[in-house]
Amino acid sequence: MTLDGMAPLEPVIGVIGTGYLGTTHAACMAELGFDVVAQDQSPERVARLAAGELPFYEPALAELVRRHTASGRLRFTHDVADLAAVADVHFLCVGTPQAGEGMAADTSQVFAAAEALAACLERDALIVGKSTVPVGTTEALVAAVTRRAAPGIDVEVAWNPEFLREGHAVDDTLRPDRLVLGVSSAEAEKILRQVYVDVIRDGAAVVVTDPATAELVKVAANAFLATKITFANLMGELCEAAGADVTTLAESIGLDPRIGHQFLGAGLGFGGGCLPKDLRALIARADELGVGHARRLLGVVDEVNESQRTRTVETAVELCGGSVAGVRIAALGAAFKPGTDDVRDSPSLAVAARLRDLGATVTVHDPHANDNARAAEPDLCFAATAEDACRDASLVVLLTEWEELVRLDPRELSAYVAVPRMLDARNALDPQRWQLAGWEHRGFGRSSDRAQPSAGSRVSEMELMQ
Ligand code: UGA
Repeated sequence: MTLDGMAPLEPVIGVIGTGYLGTTHAACMAELGFDVVAQDQSPERVARLAAGELPFYEPALAELVRRHTASGRLRFTHDVADLAAVADVHFLCVGTPQAGEGMAADTSQVFAAAEALAACLERDALIVGKSTVPVGTTEALVAAVTRRAAPGIDVEVAWNPEFLREGHAVDDTLRPDRLVLGVSSAEAEKILRQVYVDVIRDGAAVVVTDPATAELVKVAANAFLATKITFANLMGELCEAAGADVTTLAESIGLDPRIGHQFLGAGLGFGGGCLPKDLRALIARADELGVGHARRLLGVVDEVNESQRTRTVETAVELCGGSVAGVRIAALGAAFKPGTDDVRDSPSLAVAARLRDLGATVTVHDPHANDNARAAEPDLCFAATAEDACRDASLVVLLTEWEELVRLDPRELSAYVAVPRMLDARNALDPQRWQLAGWEHRGFGRSSDRAQPSAGSRVSEMELMQ
């Protein structure tokens, strides 16, 4: 195929899907100087974005959307024909959630979006997938869009996976460590290099490969990060059994540059809209491809991660003397990690809900995710401040390590609780600081919990009762 009909310089960019990925990509492309039209099938979402209003919390993104909707460089539409009319390069940024049954990813939105676009194209185009998809999707998509495009219209499909993290989306998009270009022609590579010219100039490494490898790079990266976290959690379990300290262990092995410090934080485990479902989708694809070892390893990673939630609930029950029925518990954090209001597959919210199911009165406070958490779990109680959530609690559980929650002063917080007892499910607190302030502290796989067992807390409880 040729892409001769395309504008040679400054391509106009289309973006399909305005979730975290699409909105961030569209706003960042506008920031890089391109004219961008972003499409979403929801007219309400389009209206909010066009007014410069983000439907989710993401630092720095709202400002970028406002700036470029005002400058006219970024437009939103609900009609895909608007993209077909003006854009040369179309980025697919729609969701690929876990399918209802089984572990596979549901790619129906990717196919529906690409086919709808192909059907109204009036000139040659490059469709670039950014969504996370099972390996082999590009190949199937090429056949699908070729069937839908009018005769004489050339459509090429490339894959350029996204590695942005929620909470750092803008920075990760404008200053990524690498760009993976999964292309089938030199023209497609040339166009993508043109789109990312500033990003490449600023130092992003470029990997040019085939679409199948590019698709796999993304899921492999997320599966590796998930495996690293689960490894840390397995070491935490060993440390707990042996009276050792997993935070010191992680710090020490992380000093080896071949291992590195990141994603060795033992605790409640991973969640969110990406790591869990991408891991499961890879398991499903490995099954389809008959690759048994990958299936087994990744299956254990998923299993261990799920069991961390159960462990946390069990530890809470143990700390409360064998039952949480009727116990007031403060749940600090509901988002799946700090820096976002996303509660999709959040281990934090799952633990709060399970404690509630066991009969506890759970009051949740999250600095940004209270609304989303309430929508997902309306039966939980919510508080606007950490102090209010802790009022009269006999157990405080730190579930998401927001900076403002990690910085809470244990002495000041003592005044609100009924019993100064902290379960630090993210190993984010300094145990000594809390113990010295009279709290019983329990982390995960930490020897310091044993150094000063609950004697300190018993004293404080007695003091409080006097
Ligand atoms: C993840 C990847 O990090 C991104 O590179 C990728 O682009 C994105 O998925 C995606 O596929 O779109 P994100 O979902 O924003 O990004 O979350 P992470 O920052 O990776 O954190 C995932 C989970 O791991 C969180 O629940 C976090 O609390 C947990 N985690 C992280 C740990 O339990 N321990 C750690 O040491 C680090």
